[in-house]
Amino acid sequence: MLTVDLPDSDATERLGTALAAALEPGPAVILLEGTLGAGKSTLVRGFLHGLGVTGPVASPTYGLVHTYAVRPGGVHHADVYRIETLHELEQTGMLDELRQGVWLVEWASRFAGEWPADNLEVHIDVAGGARVARIVANGPKHTALLEGLCRTLQ
Ligand SMILES: Nc1ncnc2c1ncn2[C@@H]1O[C@H](COP(=O)(O)OP(=O)(O)O)[C@@H](O)[C@H]1O
Ligand SMILES: [Mg+2]
Repeated sequence: MLTVDLPDSDATERLGTALAAALEPGPAVILLEGTLGAGKSTLVRGFLHGLGVTGPVASPTYGLVHTYAVRPGGVHHADVYRIETLHELEQTGMLDELRQGVWLVEWASRFAGEWPADNLEVHIDVAGGARVARIVANGPKHTALLEGLCRTLQ
């Protein structure tokens, strides 16, 4: 596990950018956890900026995935906060597409067990005004991503 202090919003964005810099070719699944307002979308914004996305990065609303064509297979930003049932999640088609491209999923723990077993969990804990990120890799592919992130942050 990697722990990163995030004293302000810029630090959250920079962590997202560092994560993007650590990506290797091929798919990735990044599961973002943390309460409303923790900074999940902020981290995604930094990630996308790191991949060359310019302009505003809006939060995806209900049933919607935002896709950015900045890598083969695309980079997909999803938020499953308002998805009530597994059936609804299945209806989005998202679960069938997770092995292509890079996925960033906010509120993934609402559907724990539905995501590929090889993934990266980014937990953002609110500590007073600041935040602390705890990053956990599950499986070999994302262990390599976490190692790359550690190198990027050094
Ligand atoms: N490390 C941080 N410290 C303080 N505020 C932060 C931090 N990271 C993000 N924020 C702020 O928290 C607010 C909510 O962020 P957002 O990314 O929309 O949260 P979420 O997607 O988790 O609901 C934004 O105003 C953002 O600038
Ligand atoms: Mg959000």
